[in-house]
Amino acid sequence: MTEVDQASKIAEIIGAYPADQRYALAAMQDMQHAFNYIPEEGLAALAEHLGCPEANLYSMATFYKALSLTPKGDHIVKICNGTACHLRGAMNLATELKRDLGIDPGETTEDGKFSVELVNCLGSCALAPVMVVDGTYHNKLRVEQVPGIIESYAAQGAQEVTAHD
Ligand code: FES
Repeated sequence: MTEVDQASKIAEIIGAYPADQRYALAAMQDMQHAFNYIPEEGLAALAEHLGCPEANLYSMATFYKALSLTPKGDHIVKICNGTACHLRGAMNLATELKRDLGIDPGETTEDGKFSVELVNCLGSCALAPVMVVDGTYHNKLRVEQVPGIIESYAAQGAQEVTAHD
């Protein structure tokens, strides 16, 4: 997306909301959805529109896990590190991802293809350990399966990848 496209998209999103601070979260969620993160320009423009300090929006953006102030990768890899998954080797999956992608949880690959996140229980404890890529669950995952899954997402659209049982 060019800078001009981004600016007009930001204006479109912000323009859809009244100048009232109660719409701040909704507007930021829209930006997150549109750009996969909230650009600095978007935060500044929203603060001006709502007539509130940019610091307030910054606090909200850092508080809500669904919002990000830094660009995320095309593919979001979430490793569950809840108790069940942790006990069943979640951190071994993280180590394998580090080997495959060269990044730790919380980071994005330089080519912008993958972001890795460590998350709390995803509600599938019986199927631990769980890794979720772009919303697709890979359950009872073994470390040796990780490289193949990552390769699949790197090579083709996420929607074409089939989840493991
Ligand atoms: S601890 Fe991982 S799904 Fe519950």
